[in-house]
Amino acid sequence: MSSKVYFETVADQWDAMRRGFFTDALRDKAIARAAVSAGRAAADLGAGTGFISEGLLHRGVKVIAVDQSAAMLDALRHKLGHGRGLDCRVGEAERLPIDDAAVDYVFANMYLHHVESPAAAIKEMARILKPGGRVVITDLDTHDVSFLLTEHHDRWPGFDRDVLTRWLADAGLSEVTVVNAGEECCAQSGCGCKSARISVFLAHGVKRAVPSPLAEA
Ligand SMILES: C[S@@+](CC[C@H](N)C(=O)[O-])C[C@H]1O[C@@H](n2cnc3c(N)ncnc32)[C@H](O)[C@@H]1O
Repeated sequence: MSSKVYFETVADQWDAMRRGFFTDALRDKAIARAAVSAGRAAADLGAGTGFISEGLLHRGVKVIAVDQSAAMLDALRHKLGHGRGLDCRVGEAERLPIDDAAVDYVFANMYLHHVESPAAAIKEMARILKPGGRVVITDLDTHDVSFLLTEHHDRWPGFDRDVLTRWLADAGLSEVTVVNAGEECCAQSGCGCKSARISVFLAHGVKRAVPSPLAEA
């Protein structure tokens, strides 16, 4: 089963599943790191049923929610309502359906370990950010929990923080930090015989402002 088919299948149950994996504290920490302001625009990538989107809308931030799964976005719309600052778009990590320099913030919670090419996905995040905009990625540290790959269709067994730091810098982002979020992702295998607690990192970067020609003269 592909990751896309997996998420289409679990869309109706995702909110309940997600509550078992991680807590609302992770969302609060991610949003706090970006120091969001009401009236600004954010992209929630791999939005799923809107875990991050909901927190952003609650703070008056407009949201473009992108996901490969139409079923996930249907569930998100059903829960949060269409309009009122929410714009849902089906799209792929390496070709986001968002214009260049369109948003002030990019969020990606538990998304990167599912995408085929994480470095290319991060370059796409930088592309859609306005100069001065911030990206916040929350995801799994490197782990050796094989049932997450076989049962949850994760593509990557988490990420090394140094590698992630390099990918963010290579995408042209500055003020890059990748730190322990102080949160864990908890999961159980289908048989109930294996369980995992994986630490979560919080990565941050800022898109450099375009230097003014006058400043360079
Ligand atoms: C683990 S879920 C996380 C959902 C949500 N961010 C949350 O925290 O509840 C990963 C989401 O990323 C989406 N996704 C995975 N690979 C993707 C890709 N290549 N392009 C776009 N979305 C993708 C999945 O469909 C799924 O909804």
